[in-house]
Amino acid sequence: MIYYGKKLSSPGEYAQIPGEYRQAQDYTGMYDAAYTPSGTRNLLEPAITVTHSDGNNSLALKYVGHQVKQLNDDVSLLSVELKDPAYDFEVTLYYKSYYKEDVIEQWSVIKHHEKGNVQLRKFASANLCLKGKSYWLRQFHGDWAKEMQPEVSKLTHGIKTLDTKLGTRADLFQPPVFMISLNQPSTEDEGEVLYGALEWSGNFRFDLEVDPQNNLRIIAGMNNYASTYSLKPGEEFKTPPFITVLSNKGKGEASRQLQDWTRKYQIMDGEGSRLTLLNNWESTFFDFNEDKLKALIKDTRKLGVDLFLVDDGWFGNKYPRNSDHAGLGDWQANKKKLPDGVFSLVKEATKDSVKFGIWIEPEMVNPKSELYHQHPDWIIKQPDRPEYYFRNQLVLDMSNPKVQDFVYHIVDNLLTKNPGLAYFKWDCNSVIYNAHSSYLGNQSHLYIDYVRGLYKVLDRIRKKYPHIPMMLCSGGGGRVDYGALKYFTEFWPSDNTDPLERIFIQWEYSYFYPAIATSNHVTAWGKQPLKFRIDVAMMGKLGFDIDISHLSDKDLQFCREAVKTYDSFKNIVWHGEQYRLSDPFTNDVASVMYVDKTKSSGVVFSYLVNNRFGKGSKLPIRFKGLDASKKYRIEEINLYPGTKSTLKANQVFSGDFLMQIGFNPDVNAQRTSVVLKLEEVK
Ligand code: DGJ
Repeated sequence: MIYYGKKLSSPGEYAQIPGEYRQAQDYTGMYDAAYTPSGTRNLLEPAITVTHSDGNNSLALKYVGHQVKQLNDDVSLLSVELKDPAYDFEVTLYYKSYYKEDVIEQWSVIKHHEKGNVQLRKFASANLCLKGKSYWLRQFHGDWAKEMQPEVSKLTHGIKTLDTKLGTRADLFQPPVFMISLNQPSTEDEGEVLYGALEWSGNFRFDLEVDPQNNLRIIAGMNNYASTYSLKPGEEFKTPPFITVLSNKGKGEASRQLQDWTRKYQIMDGEGSRLTLLNNWESTFFDFNEDKLKALIKDTRKLGVDLFLVDDGWFGNKYPRNSDHAGLGDWQANKKKLPDGVFSLVKEATKDSVKFGIWIEPEMVNPKSELYHQHPDWIIKQPDRPEYYFRNQLVLDMSNPKVQDFVYHIVDNLLTKNPGLAYFKWDCNSVIYNAHSSYLGNQSHLYIDYVRGLYKVLDRIRKKYPHIPMMLCSGGGGRVDYGALKYFTEFWPSDNTDPLERIFIQWEYSYFYPAIATSNHVTAWGKQPLKFRIDVAMMGKLGFDIDISHLSDKDLQFCREAVKTYDSFKNIVWHGEQYRLSDPFTNDVASVMYVDKTKSSGVVFSYLVNNRFGKGSKLPIRFKGLDASKKYRIEEINLYPGTKSTLKANQVFSGDFLMQIGFNPDVNAQRTSVVLKLEEVK
């Protein structure tokens, strides 16, 4: 790999690039290999490590040929064939390029025709080599309610590994995304920056190695931890795609490209619409019955949102799901809480002209459940060791086709019995402890075959129900990744819905995922006023999780108006371009803007994020993404009933002014959150 950067205008000059570098000697002649094997002359971190069927550990991969297929105007697929001269072993590297969005997906397919099985010990999807003076990593860490905490550091020589070994709720501590800025940390609008993300909902591993020549080698793929894979002759081992986008105009451009790509090619129905909703989790937890839910369905209508979503707690009879200690696995409506089952609720919702959605956590089981006693062999656990629980539950063995069938039928039965059901929230609260499958002969296949099994089920569901919206949830954002998002319309970023916290969490997610995929609910978390909470939730897919019956008349009136206001601009947020204007980490006021693709309307959200005395928007905030030659009228929207904007009405500015000088939303301790609407004046 000789170059990774902005396209050169004369393709003939690529070959001259290596001649311009006078770096330290490459002792192996393969520091910059496109897929580095091990056991021969390589001395650095490999992309692939194998043990051949005869026990030999060496691999050499030689270029055999390549092919470029133009899939359509926007997409091409390059495949590069590599073979070992000594063994009947081959790897094909795939690079799928999306020209308009500047995104590349790459993966490998590994195959052999040796006499017996080959043991794959490492099997990366991608192996990149970047050249720069220095490399600045932006990585993310987290925990429950603390998702997407950023950390920036300069990479030093050696290897920095980002990985997870948690299995199911794989991203609890670390999501499968990162950024590398070249030469200096990039800003929103300046600097060369590479985003990387893996399409995989299980253990991943990114090795970032600054090599002896000062180049950065990135080796990304599924984690090989406890996962040596035994590959039969003739069998294909396909690794999940690794996504990159490279911008030389800073983080903003890279994320707009990735967001566009995601909407167009990756998430379910990314260019479509979404349902606003009322969820009962935070207002009732497990404590509800049919009457309560029917009242909430009425509240949904009162609020003016599209759908009511019943959360955890509706199932289990012998072991009723009245807390998180029991019931998971027994997916029959609880007869005491819902004597007429789910059907009567769907019917009630339909009568009230709202849609009805339901929560499931199909991959899990509580020891206090009928399923646990009926199918102990379906559960991941060590046969001769004590069970160890995460949220009082265990994980079902998705590598087992019988379990796959069971999980598929949870969804299929609900939809067959209740054809009016309009939405699923698919939760996944537990990590894998005591990784052992009583189905698999080879235990080191479990982590990989689990995810493959999960995808098989989701494929099957999507084949039969291609359009039903589904939220990807994992005790908050424990499974937000591009592999799963192929099957889901949206994700739950965090159980932390304190709006101040959410400004930071949503800011970081927005680098990688579009607003249409980000479910934000207004809850009782945090100390901010209702308006602040709603404004923050509007920067994505709006929902509510509050007790409507406890709202004052004025608050309820405000919520209802806010839903209508949101409906009037949601398409800009969902399908437009996002610009992060003012960073909450370094400013007293955070500001985020969305502009429609024709640059004729926009919405700007600004929040006070520092509550110290006298803090506020002292300076104008420079807008972005507008047309300098157009004129825009600015209006403050989503005002709380009875309050007036402090901004002059009907102000019109040129796009040039708004982008050069900016506009002051007048955020201060009395006006902690401000939403502005921009409309082109013709
Ligand atoms: C974790 C989710 O993140 C919450 O939103 C809620 O659905 C609970 N699980 C229910 O158990």
